[in-house]
Amino acid sequence: MIANMSAESSDIKAISEKISLDGWSDGDGLFHTDLLLELREEVRLHEFADALSLAHTGHNESKMLSAVRGDSTLWLDDPRCGDASKKFLVLLDILRIELNRSLMLGLVSVEAHYAAYPAGAVYGRHRDSFRDNDARVLSLVCYLNTEWPDNAGGALRLHLTEGHRDIEPKLGTNVIFLSGDIEHEVMPSTQTRYSIAAWFRQREIQLR
Ligand code: OGA
Ligand code: MN
Repeated sequence: MIANMSAESSDIKAISEKISLDGWSDGDGLFHTDLLLELREEVRLHEFADALSLAHTGHNESKMLSAVRGDSTLWLDDPRCGDASKKFLVLLDILRIELNRSLMLGLVSVEAHYAAYPAGAVYGRHRDSFRDNDARVLSLVCYLNTEWPDNAGGALRLHLTEGHRDIEPKLGTNVIFLSGDIEHEVMPSTQTRYSIAAWFRQREIQLR
């Protein structure tokens, strides 16, 4: 057991192997349910306190980053965030070190935000990093939805060479993928959809 994470080192090794082979990995054993429930409470409190801001994708950035996007977000290091956010950021940093050990990707930091997608909102097909903006190396998405009927929609759709793969946004499900390689999108849902998206970053090269 990795301090407070529910994952074992052997799980991280299996995740790493899957990522080096396929570019992505999904599962549901990384974080304790108690913590996920606290995170869910937190994002809902922020939502009701109007602390989430409408996400936007900069139009000066690469075309794929300016996909239509209907979620509202709050970074976990925002001063308004509480203990659950702080705990989660610590775990993500432990995960960063573990993933570095097995994948040797030179990940130096991690950033994460809560996201709430109201019913009907989407995030169009995109990648999370590009050649001209490649600080994000690995993306992690973790879901905070306790009740998610089969017909609620809201899948994370991964576009893979062999076709697409839909992942249901149920509490505890997590997906990790190479930010520059895997195109993905968020499908519309019939109810509010809560997630945390995190990016493990490499050192940025300063261009003069
Ligand atoms: C993102 C993203 C996916 C999700 O924030 O870049 O693709 O399932 N999120 O919330
Ligand atoms: Mn994305």
